[in-house]
Amino acid sequence: MVTAVSKVSLTGIKPTGEPHLGNFIGAIKPALELAGGAESIYFIADYHALTSVRDPELLGRWTRSVAATWLAAGLDPERTIFYRQSDVPEIFELHWVLSCFSAKGLMNRAHAYKAARDRNREAGVEELDAGINMGLFNYPVLMAVDILIMEADLVPVGKDQLQHVEYAADIAGAFNAVYGDSFKLKVPKAVVPTEDTGRTLPGTDGRKMSKSYNNTIPLFAPEAQLRKTVRRIPTDSTPVEAPKDPDSSAVFQLLSHFADHKKLAEVRTRLEAGGMGWGELKNTLQVVLSEQLSPMRERYDALMQPGSELEELLALGAAKARRRAQPVLEQVRKAIGIG
Ligand code: ADP
Ligand code: TRP
Repeated sequence: MVTAVSKVSLTGIKPTGEPHLGNFIGAIKPALELAGGAESIYFIADYHALTSVRDPELLGRWTRSVAATWLAAGLDPERTIFYRQSDVPEIFELHWVLSCFSAKGLMNRAHAYKAARDRNREAGVEELDAGINMGLFNYPVLMAVDILIMEADLVPVGKDQLQHVEYAADIAGAFNAVYGDSFKLKVPKAVVPTEDTGRTLPGTDGRKMSKSYNNTIPLFAPEAQLRKTVRRIPTDSTPVEAPKDPDSSAVFQLLSHFADHKKLAEVRTRLEAGGMGWGELKNTLQVVLSEQLSPMRERYDALMQPGSELEELLALGAAKARRRAQPVLEQVRKAIGIG
């Protein structure tokens, strides 16, 4: 009998802040929708965040917050493997081994490293590596290990991470070229959304919502803060009775990701006809966001309580992840002649 072998998909989430509406629509929701068919592995890349997060309290909080967000959004810890990168020590042993198979020239060409050097060049700093740590330089190697140690087939990532997945395939190839007769690392493929423009949410200043622009609407902000943040979104001074172009409004764009078709069509008609002011539109957005997010927020708040089941769920996930990683590391050790 021939059985179809299902593909394993894996993705990592870097805990660099509280999750916002953009992360939810652009990353969390599509990833959970995709989880249906393939066997899925998700993890919080907390050691990757160390290249930029230097506040121990924040690193811990954001890691818990990202984990609680994915669980509250519907990630099923029974059907998926969900863990914290730092709970899987095998990753860090394999990191050394594979760094010995990672061409330095390849890392010299990595986008994030090159961008950091460009910033120094533009600032007139003579030493282009000034302020750049080895963590940033080695970042793609650690990411390759995340992928290769779990023998993932598919890696869904945004365009900005495509190069890193290609590096992972390259590093696997370099290892396989030497030891392929005794053990082969699985060569992964990136899955990049073909069209993600429709899923880009504007922030409170109309630019793309992003932590780096300080314009985010936190996914699970308390009601009062949500109301205040929505009210801050700038609008023009078109009077209430004047017809308005819904598509030019960041508030309407945000609404379009959360309201149902009927509600959206009704709001569009009223804006175009005139008679609906920006204030009322903001109230509508706030009500719709509350309706959609409250049930998730309740679960999130419960998970964020000290002593919640969050730690237990992550520990269970780590045990599953280690069971998957250990035989890979074992075979690598054997192949290279260690242990
Ligand atoms: P930020 O720009 O806030 O630092 P990240 O780079 O951490 O966000 O993004 C994590 C994930 O969330 C990525 O997959 C990214 O594509 C998605 N994402 C971030 N901001 C938005 C947005 N405004 N609209 C849609 N998706 C977004
Ligand atoms: N580098 C990814 C990011 O910044 C996070 C990440 C770490 C990752 N390890 C991974 C993503 C492995 C996919 C697979 O978003």
